[in-house]
Amino acid sequence: MKKRVAVLISGRGSNLQALLDAEQNAYEVALVVSNIPNAAGLDRAREAGVEAIALDHKRYGQNREAFERDLDALLVQRNIEIVALAGFMRVLTPYFVRAWQGRLLNIHPSLLPKLPGTKTHERALAAGESEHGCTVHLVVDEVDAGEILGQARMPILPGDTPQTLAERVLTLEHELYPRCLAEYAQTL
Ligand code: GAR
Repeated sequence: MKKRVAVLISGRGSNLQALLDAEQNAYEVALVVSNIPNAAGLDRAREAGVEAIALDHKRYGQNREAFERDLDALLVQRNIEIVALAGFMRVLTPYFVRAWQGRLLNIHPSLLPKLPGTKTHERALAAGESEHGCTVHLVVDEVDAGEILGQARMPILPGDTPQTLAERVLTLEHELYPRCLAEYAQTL
């Protein structure tokens, strides 16, 4: 049976597109939720015939857990089995992380455990790294720290800028995420 996956996004949704395009026997994207109402990725989902819902975190003010309770209720209602974060730019609280423990994946644009957090391409250059890449991992309470499910790496070249790194890493992400999600889905 294909696992029912919800993809959580905040923006353009190119990883969501890769997950949609690569769907095979292991998983189906059954729901897309964005915390940003006009995220371009919502249109990608609708074009693929997938239910797409905006859940605007701003409506919840400082109450992160109230936002997550509504999100969790939505996921449960749609019989979601795996949640894949794909450019979802909200840190999740232990409440949500524990509720989905072992079924919550993220893609991060660095070779974890190097460079957790934001601005990874700038920081890879500033640190004089010779290689860079992306990581798919399980989400735990600590940000960008869960079990690593897969990585893709590439050399940093002379003349690289944060922009050129971002473009090349993104190409790697689009291959890595569907592969790791499919492999992981088969283990559940
Ligand atoms: C991707 O590079 C993803 O790795 C990164 O945001 C981008 C989303 O692009 N995620 C993070 O930085 C999470 N901390 P997309 O919306 O086109 O998939």
